[in-house]
Amino acid sequence: MTNIDAYTHVRGETVYLDDIPETAGTLYACVYGSPVAHGRIRQLDLSEALQLPGVVRIFTSKDIPGKNQIGGIVPDEPLLAENEVHYNGMPVALVVATSVETAQAAVKRIKIDIEPLPVITDPRVAQKNGSLLVPPRTFSLGDTTAAFTNCKYIVEGIAETNGQEHLYIETQGAYAIPGEHESIKLYSSTQGPTAVQRHAADVLGIPMHRIEVDVTRLGGGFGGKEDQATSWAIFCALAAMLLRKPVKYSLHRMEDMRMTGKRNPYSSDFKIGLDIDFTILAYEATFYQNGGAAADLSPAVLERTLFHCTNSYFVPNVKATAYSCRTNLPPNTAFRGFGGPQGMFVIEAAIAKAAEQIGVPASVIQQRNLIQTGDEFSYGQKAESEAVECWNKATSLYEMEKLKAEVENFNAANTLFKKGLSLMPICFGISFTKTLMNQARALVHVYTDGSIGISTGAVEMGQGVNTKMLQVAANIFSVDPAMIKVYSTNTYRIANTSPTAASAAADLNGKAVEIACEKIADRLKDVAAEILKCDRKNITINGQKVFLGKDATQLTWKELVMAAYVKRVSLSEHAHYATPGLHFDATIEKGHPFAYHVYGTAITTVTVDCLRGTYEIDAVRIVHDFGKSMNTIIDKGQIEGGLVQGIGWMTMEEIVYDAEGRLRSNALSTYKVPDIYSVPKLLDIHFLETSNDNLAIFRSKAVGEPPLMYGIGTFFALRNAVKAFNPASGIGYSAPMTPEKVLMGLYTSGND
Ligand code: MTE
Ligand code: HPA
Ligand code: MOS
Repeated sequence: MTNIDAYTHVRGETVYLDDIPETAGTLYACVYGSPVAHGRIRQLDLSEALQLPGVVRIFTSKDIPGKNQIGGIVPDEPLLAENEVHYNGMPVALVVATSVETAQAAVKRIKIDIEPLPVITDPRVAQKNGSLLVPPRTFSLGDTTAAFTNCKYIVEGIAETNGQEHLYIETQGAYAIPGEHESIKLYSSTQGPTAVQRHAADVLGIPMHRIEVDVTRLGGGFGGKEDQATSWAIFCALAAMLLRKPVKYSLHRMEDMRMTGKRNPYSSDFKIGLDIDFTILAYEATFYQNGGAAADLSPAVLERTLFHCTNSYFVPNVKATAYSCRTNLPPNTAFRGFGGPQGMFVIEAAIAKAAEQIGVPASVIQQRNLIQTGDEFSYGQKAESEAVECWNKATSLYEMEKLKAEVENFNAANTLFKKGLSLMPICFGISFTKTLMNQARALVHVYTDGSIGISTGAVEMGQGVNTKMLQVAANIFSVDPAMIKVYSTNTYRIANTSPTAASAAADLNGKAVEIACEKIADRLKDVAAEILKCDRKNITINGQKVFLGKDATQLTWKELVMAAYVKRVSLSEHAHYATPGLHFDATIEKGHPFAYHVYGTAITTVTVDCLRGTYEIDAVRIVHDFGKSMNTIIDKGQIEGGLVQGIGWMTMEEIVYDAEGRLRSNALSTYKVPDIYSVPKLLDIHFLETSNDNLAIFRSKAVGEPPLMYGIGTFFALRNAVKAFNPASGIGYSAPMTPEKVLMGLYTSGND
């Protein structure tokens, strides 16, 4: 089954937000963002901007009829600044004009006088000042203090990961059309239609039922539109309601890069203790998360860092503390992996450092400590582990010993080029870490001609969730996929949606589709039994025909549907699914937060040019735990895309803010993302079918986020190549491993 969007994508016919035909009289919005990162507003002068012909109105916080508040987890984020600004680009005023160009020109004429306040961009400084977004949290298992006294090897260090720009190809945007009785239709490029609806209702001061949020698809989200699509949608809704005109805002790339938050950078301390046989006895970590100027999703991201702080390993004694630090940067947010990658990088750094000090390959420590079924994670859940199976399959299938020998031989024979190899096991928990979010709904209609329409809470953003929803229905009804249409995600049809996130959209919404379809199919079988005058139990529907036992009857799907309609049997169903068995008690930080875990192992080889510091990724070979994939083409695409996005984060994508909190890497000329040349020259993905019971839809495990973390392997492969050239290199554990950093590492020595 190919992705149902492929046909319109390649023909350029796909409709994104900016392609929606505009209603006559549409106006255009543009935000004026604070020119400084921290300060008190003394005066805002809109007069020159207002004089520009075509400017309809300029809104400030004073115009907001409801609450000036869009914070999702903590109410700490005004939609428009009131007296203070907290980051460079923070929305201060909203210009609405008759053309995009006029709106942009007017923004340039706005003048502001701000009394500057100290700017903090470093999370460790913020933590020292007591500037936290939420109280710190600690996950612990066993007793690390006691365990360290029994360790043969103890290694400490610092690890850093930088942020990451989402770079969805479609920038943030929205289009609002006012309706009767103070209602609004809001087209939004959002992963969270209900978040948009709820916050729009609060800001406008109207009930949620008057706000229809409609999402056909996104040109990518990657977490960047889980929470941060909201403000742009509300700007449009606010202006549309107050002006009684349609209002649209589709951000310029540079506006988007400057004003929106990114992956949370982290600075972390680690301490790892090993026994003589390389068993990890104890692990301590302290995470300083750079949250930015408001909480946004950072507290939830922080939590997932703790959940994944021991990656794919069993560690009997763990103590991990995490601080969500308030800085004067745009609020950082969800990004594929949602804090998991940041946590996993640190333990990989700890293992790499321990391996170097002990003088064994890191893979020896990694393999020795892989988590096994029945082992306990620091948060109390028992593992149903595929870690060892993935690792063993990867090392045997790809002939690890041979790969290692090839690298060693190459390095012995070459001085100016060095190769590096690494293994990267992953383990990622599937479910929203907030239990209540693990619910979804679906609405299925069968029309009298036998065709089928499906609505769910899932948002299509390129990951193929709509195709999977269609497959679920096609499978249950046993009809041709061409009989089914997946509709837009719409809050009038499906209420109270969780965002499409946590890799859980296909599972949650797919299960709801499954339930709805089964209920309708059951009713249809009752009708068939009545028509055929036979036992209901012997009826099946297969390939659009009704079967009695093994034999096809004369009754077709279409006839059966029409017959049900004539008998006044309902052909529609609205179903609800909530993942069973989930619980978590944050007061003791223990529970069973995940439906299941996804495992895998990647083997990465790289070649470093030791004159230039440049490098190529020779190969990434992956054994991935798919459960039983329901769509191998889509799932393979997710692994490839996730891996390359992870490699980008680990190698070349470098977010730079200056000391004044101004984004310097603010365009694609200064922010480098992977292109076709950055893709590994060889990329092999082995589909490991695992048989443990799981709660995935059709046992096809969630695949959206986990593969990003294979990219961490590239960092350590590059590091190994640098060390092969210069064993005394003090290259450290600070991502991204840019060519500049590699070059410095090749020619300088020190402690890392
Ligand atoms: N793939 C594409 N093409 N575009 C995206 O924006 N987002 C990722 C992942 N894969 C994304 C993607 C993220 S961050 C998540 S959480 C999952 O898709 C969400 O979709 P799922 O729950 O259907 O896997
Ligand atoms: N993952 C992704 N997005 C989320 C989560 C999560 O666990 N919780 C809230 N939003
Ligand atoms: Mo994905 S970061 O959970 O949107």
